[in-house]
Amino acid sequence: MSTMHPSDKELSLAPRAASDEEEVLDESTNGTGPLNRVKRNIPEPPLLSSHGPAKVIALCNQKGGVGKTTSTINLGAALTEYGRRVLIVDFDPQGALSVGLGMPAHLLEKTIYNVIIERSITINDAIMRTSVENMDLLPSNIDLSAAEVQLVAEVGREHTLVRALRPVIDVYDYILIDCQPSLGLLTVNALAAADGVLIPLECEYFSMRGVALLTDTIEKVRERLNPKLEITGIVPTMYDPRTVHSREVMARVVERFGDVVFDAVINRTVRFPETTVAGAPITVWAPRSAGAKAYRLLAREVIAREVVAAR
Ligand SMILES: Nc1ncnc2c1ncn2[C@@H]1O[C@H](COP(=O)(O)OP(=O)(O)OP(=O)(O)O)[C@@H](O)[C@H]1O
Ligand SMILES: [Mg+2]
Repeated sequence: MSTMHPSDKELSLAPRAASDEEEVLDESTNGTGPLNRVKRNIPEPPLLSSHGPAKVIALCNQKGGVGKTTSTINLGAALTEYGRRVLIVDFDPQGALSVGLGMPAHLLEKTIYNVIIERSITINDAIMRTSVENMDLLPSNIDLSAAEVQLVAEVGREHTLVRALRPVIDVYDYILIDCQPSLGLLTVNALAAADGVLIPLECEYFSMRGVALLTDTIEKVRERLNPKLEITGIVPTMYDPRTVHSREVMARVVERFGDVVFDAVINRTVRFPETTVAGAPITVWAPRSAGAKAYRLLAREVIAREVVAAR
């Protein structure tokens, strides 16, 4: 394993230009890679001659701070580089996805909250363009926290999101839903709307323990609400090749979950918090960085695993 790694620098709050010079070649991406298994041959994604229907993927893990929002932004942006049209859905009242793309979340008048609660507002009223071409955002803010309570009394409360997304299914190739860190009603709505679940898994011991609970919930949603739901894959995040702990956790993850684990592994680097300050995906802000490359590989793998669900 490599001991060379971009050193953690002090997090400055002013956005600064990215320099690729500090980026060192991570040897763990060569040979068998950090997963310690033979790397798969991931084909170049086929070009698309038309768009839609979208594959809906929920990025889900009830553990906080594991890279759901970061992965939504960067996977979304990487998918657009392969000619895909992407809608990213902020389904967390924290609004981090919206803020991470430079949207003034608290000032927004129409968010996903209005779309799911007010019948008169359609999804197209709330969708916003982002700075990334072909990646649109359905924003959210703290208003969404009220929805969980309001929805409880609704008929078909678990299917509110799937109904809201329906008008734009044919417009996009991928709809990525950034879930909040809980397994409550909002997350169940996301799972009921999804074809696949993508689980960002922090390379840390306690993270692995939570996955059993998550897969249990996924199983229940599949049985009771959404038979087409499957696990698209597990993406290891916050991997630090310098620590024995990270490597041990990774070995256990691969042993336990096997081929479900993507080849793409996201290293721990301060560049991700920095991109949030810059309000741009890493694929745009530091396009040659290891992080950008990892999210491009993830995008290729997601496309390769695609099974277009019959609608
Ligand atoms: N690979 C990484 N290396 C280092 N820091 C990262 C990495 N990915 C994300 N981060 C940082 O970790 C923090 C949490 O990431 P993120 O917001 O994506 O997680 P989350 O799972 O969406 O959190 P929450 O559960 O609160 O919604 C953020 O400050 C983010 O910039
Ligand atoms: Mg988040």
